[in-house]
Amino acid sequence: MIAIYPGSFDPITLGHLDIITRGTRLCDRVIVAVLRNPNKVPLFTIQQRMEQIRHATRHLDTVEVDSFEGLTVTYAQLRGATALLRGLRAVSDFEMELQMAHTNKTLIDQIETIFLATSNEYSFLSSSVVKEVAKFGGSIDHLVPQHVALDIYKCYAKNHPA
Ligand code: PNS
Repeated sequence: MIAIYPGSFDPITLGHLDIITRGTRLCDRVIVAVLRNPNKVPLFTIQQRMEQIRHATRHLDTVEVDSFEGLTVTYAQLRGATALLRGLRAVSDFEMELQMAHTNKTLIDQIETIFLATSNEYSFLSSSVVKEVAKFGGSIDHLVPQHVALDIYKCYAKNHPA
């Protein structure tokens, strides 16, 4: 089974990496797909985000990194995928995720959404939280892969004197 793991990944966190790693144990291939969203102003470009994910997943040989625009299910169908992978952190995620899963099912019935419960240690974690902590000078070393932490510290260099 080929699964798409779609998201913004601005940037990838250890929570995302946990879902990708566990996804590889369930699926033959996991395509991590970065959404090209013209309505959001990201911290990192699509190329930077893809490079960060590639580096973080370089030990997982069934993972591919790509980008897409438009509907996730259309992209999934194009790639021959039959599943979408999503992490659920808390009840607060549930409503939106369920709405997306139902909508996607009405669009292409053959593509199923697989939810993985985010590991407890990452249940509070999001890309936004990471950026917020780094912006105000806090350490994010325990929240993102090391190379991503360095990229983020560079963005907020004035808050992280060497
Ligand atoms: O990392 P995110 O921002 O939580 O990911 C959200 C994402 C990219 C999975 C979602 O916004 C998405 O699939 N967008 C593409 C448009 C689409 O297919 N929407 C679903 C139908 S409502």
